[in-house]
Amino acid sequence: MKLILLGAPGAGKGTQAEVICNALNIPAISTGNLLREAVKNGTALGMEAKTYMDGGKLVPDEIVINILKERLAQDDCQAGFILDGFPRTVPQAETLSQMGVEIDKVLDIEVPDEKIMQRLSGRRVCEGCGASYHLDYKPSKVEGVCDKCGAKTVQRKDDHPDTIKERLQVYHAQTEPLKDYYQQTGKLVVVEGQEEVAETSALTLKALEA
Ligand code: AP5
Repeated sequence: MKLILLGAPGAGKGTQAEVICNALNIPAISTGNLLREAVKNGTALGMEAKTYMDGGKLVPDEIVINILKERLAQDDCQAGFILDGFPRTVPQAETLSQMGVEIDKVLDIEVPDEKIMQRLSGRRVCEGCGASYHLDYKPSKVEGVCDKCGAKTVQRKDDHPDTIKERLQVYHAQTEPLKDYYQQTGKLVVVEGQEEVAETSALTLKALEA
């Protein structure tokens, strides 16, 4: 199955990508994670992307499309995949279609902007393995320490309040039009992003059956 997860920053795309990955045994591909990896490795591409990411802006289409193409060419993607955070603009969606990628379903996780601020400002991520936590909704067993690998958990630079506001503006202006784009293909399914992760996960799995 080939899936796209749409939604505002912090809507829970990464969390639901993990749920689907475990249920269907297909890889979850997050362009945000791929870009953060490039930043961590100090590549030229990573250095260019960092300025945009830290400011809450989208990285230029050309850079993201090249990263995604490389990832989709890997063997583990042949049976299907979940795209988390791609496409983010209509030109990115058009490129995906021109590449001949046949998407089965687009899950749009809906969460109001007021809740996003609370979710993202409370998020902590592991410096080592990238696992994601929330101070209130999904705390690690020991605060500041990853349950999975024991490394330190930190706040992402773009999870500071001013940058969250910028990311939301960018989402509404550049990514939200993708709802109409995929509505017209008949592949869009809306999932309400509930208060509890478990409730949202149940709705996500139900949406896959629809
Ligand atoms: P990216 O990493 O994709 O960030 P994002 O879309 O802003 O998404 P997030 O990772 O912030 O949130 P999420 O929806 O995955 O939520 P999560 O599950 O973590 O991109 C970062 C940057 O890279 C972009 O700003 C851009 O610069 C660049 N980029 C990436 N892709 C690009 C592209 N295609 N084109 C151009 N630029 C690109 O959940 C959030 C928090 O809420 C967590 O703490 C979680 O525990 C909690 N939570 C989740 N679900 C629930 C729930 N149901 N109830 C309560 N809490 C919940």
